[in-house]
Amino acid sequence: VITSAEQKPLSGQKWLITAGPTREAIDPVRYISNHSSGKMGFAIASAAQSLGAEVTIISGPVNLTTPQNCQKIAVTSAVEMHQQALAHAPKSDVFVACAAVADYRIDHIASEKIKKSQDTMQLNLIKNPDIVADVAALESKPFTVGFAAETQDVEHYAKGKLARKKLDMIAANNVAEIGQGFNSDDNALTVFTANDEKVLPLMSKSELAKQLVQHIHHTFQSTRL
Ligand code: CTP
Ligand code: CA
Repeated sequence: VITSAEQKPLSGQKWLITAGPTREAIDPVRYISNHSSGKMGFAIASAAQSLGAEVTIISGPVNLTTPQNCQKIAVTSAVEMHQQALAHAPKSDVFVACAAVADYRIDHIASEKIKKSQDTMQLNLIKNPDIVADVAALESKPFTVGFAAETQDVEHYAKGKLARKKLDMIAANNVAEIGQGFNSDDNALTVFTANDEKVLPLMSKSELAKQLVQHIHHTFQSTRL
């Protein structure tokens, strides 16, 4: 006999997920961004929804269909994503920061298209707020999961981010390996908490998302016992 609790173990839980890139405007026609497709975040949203969660995705610009029965909040810049995340996080049970947030934004966005003049030009950048760290610092904080896309020393950098940002869990991704990460349909992750580690080997992002959601759920449950 399969009970509904086994089919929908996330019933009654609210999951909030950031996904995709952010875009930082330079002037009315130009921006700085990155190659994030949003696929991993949307796959996590879909997996969590299938298991019964009420899912909200805060997404930068992506070319993806919103998974069935998930709410999508569309944003453009990191500052907008930060505002939406902090507005929704206090009423969420789980927060998964999958977005590739631009680390810096232009300090003064030009109101008119910048004309070319000299042979060289400088843009002044200022650091964006750290969305996942600010969510983890909330008084009523959800179980907070970060991602770390690294090209070297994956475990060292991921564990550093877990501690520095005061996350409950971090999913580390070696984006230097072929067929993984940005824009790929497949991915592999090593997931760290303060006291354990779990390897999720190379597989499709949809299967990986299911296994990650289950691992997050089990770890989250064990913290509430
Ligand atoms: N993140 C965030 N807000 C930012 C930057 C990153 O919420 N302004 C989140 C990402 O969504 C991810 C985690 O922080 O879950 C790690 O992102 P990453 O870019 O790997 O880490 P950074 O702290 O930005 O460090 P660096 O880019 O220097 O490696
Ligand atoms: Ca970064």
